[in-house]
Amino acid sequence: MASKNKNDEYSIKQDYEFFSHGLEGVAAFETSISYIDGKDGILIYRGIPIEELAEKSTYEETAYFLIYANLPTQAELKKFSNDLEAHISLNTEDIKWLKDFPVAAHPMDVLNTCVSLMSLPEGGDYEVGWKRESDLKAGIQIMGKMPSYIAAFDRIKKGKQPIPPDNKLSYAANFLWMLNGEKPKEKEARILDLCLILHAEHGVCASTFGTLVTSSTLADVYSSIVAGIGTLKGYLHGGANEQVIRMLESIGGPENVEKYINAMKKKDRIMGFGHRVYKTLDPRARILKKYARDLTSKRDEILFKTALKFEDVMEKKFGPKGIYPNVDFYSGFVYKALGIPTDMFTSIFAMARAAGWIAHILEYRESNRLFRPRGIYNGPVNAKYTPIEER
Ligand code: CMC
Repeated sequence: MASKNKNDEYSIKQDYEFFSHGLEGVAAFETSISYIDGKDGILIYRGIPIEELAEKSTYEETAYFLIYANLPTQAELKKFSNDLEAHISLNTEDIKWLKDFPVAAHPMDVLNTCVSLMSLPEGGDYEVGWKRESDLKAGIQIMGKMPSYIAAFDRIKKGKQPIPPDNKLSYAANFLWMLNGEKPKEKEARILDLCLILHAEHGVCASTFGTLVTSSTLADVYSSIVAGIGTLKGYLHGGANEQVIRMLESIGGPENVEKYINAMKKKDRIMGFGHRVYKTLDPRARILKKYARDLTSKRDEILFKTALKFEDVMEKKFGPKGIYPNVDFYSGFVYKALGIPTDMFTSIFAMARAAGWIAHILEYRESNRLFRPRGIYNGPVNAKYTPIEER
């Protein structure tokens, strides 16, 4: 509220019901998609613990479950997989775009641009209002194409030809096939599938919120997912997984860990540790650590030992503050063991999370309300305008 005094100057009064820096501790909507207990380290998707889905489900089934809110019948799952497959092939235009991108481009930027390009020429629905069916169609198209874009760009930048999908393979296996040009072993495909399940959804994380802020304006699904990918890219969110491996490589071995951690300044953030919600071990990290241990090859043994030592030293120093490994600390080891290059780690996270983003867009639009918080103004009041020639 602003009022003027007798000197014609404003005085302002700001009465906000609630202020929370970074919206910490604020619930902004209701959701039935996932629940996190940050104290006990529990994550459930639509009532089912993540551990059970990781063991028994597939990424396609989990994505269906998140999006449609029921576990699919065999016929429903088949149709959903077919719908994804219908979009997985890249056309000559797609390949042309990918070949035109600079080879030094980061895969997340490529992915973001490709999803944006997918909305051309008429992907965005500019009619006022929204239609669940067209949003769903766009969402499935995006999910179908994401792995193909990521894999094809990696091949093109290495001077290789993109590989067309094999529709007999699962979503995860097809990605590895299109990336490496070799049929993955069943175990490899299953492990990537498990990683995709674990990354498919995570409540109101920053990228889901970014997606919903965009979608709450009734912008199209492509623009909303582009917002999600852009938000995920940051190091405080999904971008941390790449940084973890780079940090561990830079340490040079377990014997240097203590010195490295002790040399960190108070404001430094250790990648792969800490979480806004979890104040204990992230349940996804617990599962991924086990697979990282099983899969890490002789070549990366020192790196893995460095990670174990790192966790040990960190627990003593930061455990009492509730800072433990998050999903990003061990996921890179699993990707590395599957032959996935480090700069692709975050785009795999995005590929998996697309299911959660789409589920949230569809859910939130049922009772859409524009996100529009306020900021507390702390700038000058009654500043004087000086003409440019006098400045
Ligand atoms: N390294 C060192 N100190 C940390 C870390 C960390 N990774 N995380 C939190 N702290 C400290 C922080 O310095 C603060 O200390 P003090 O109270 O003495 O000032 C205290 O813990 C509380 O931190 P905060 O800033 O209130 O925590 P936040 O909720 O804003 O941070 C976070 C959450 C994820 C941004 C942060 O933990 C972080 O920067 N982690 C590293 C990046 C990372 O791994 N991100 C991936 C998150 S999980 C994947 C995903 O879902 O995105």
